[in-house]
Amino acid sequence: MKKVIIFIMFGSILIADVSGKKVFETYCWGCHHQTAVAFAPPFAQIASKRSASEIRAMIADPKDVSKVFGYKRNAMPAFKLKEDELEAITQYILSYKPKDNNSTDTNATDSNNTKAK
Ligand code: HEC
Repeated sequence: MKKVIIFIMFGSILIADVSGKKVFETYCWGCHHQTAVAFAPPFAQIASKRSASEIRAMIADPKDVSKVFGYKRNAMPAFKLKEDELEAITQYILSYKPKDNNSTDTNATDSNNTKAK
């Protein structure tokens, strides 16, 4: 009986393992960073200006969607992620959305160089 319980616990750990962080570390980490500017824009910046469907569209078809987003060149490759991976990474990116929605101007002085474009 104990063995069965342990097995069930293991099973659920494996399922929960499709985490956004894992997907990030597997596919995105080389170019994106959560909060710092790397080769590509940080997730915090993406989350502050994109919706879940825009993020999903970009991952599936960066060539066309980057144009819509205003990038002159597209340097991001397309990813064929499974639906649960796509959902996980999208939520992961959005979890970096800055929380200070109503205090935009008061503390923005130290982030002058992070503006897009
Ligand atoms: C080879 C480097 C590279 C990898 C790997 C990469 N990206 Fe990107 N990403 C970029 C670059 C560069 C841009 C800027 C637009 C462009 O060049 O197409 C970008 C842009 C984006 C954008 C849109 C930015 C905006 O303005 O809103 C999203 C969303 C995004 N990446 C998500 C991801 C996710 C999720 C992964 C992993 C599954 C990933 N990227 C992997 C290089 C990369």
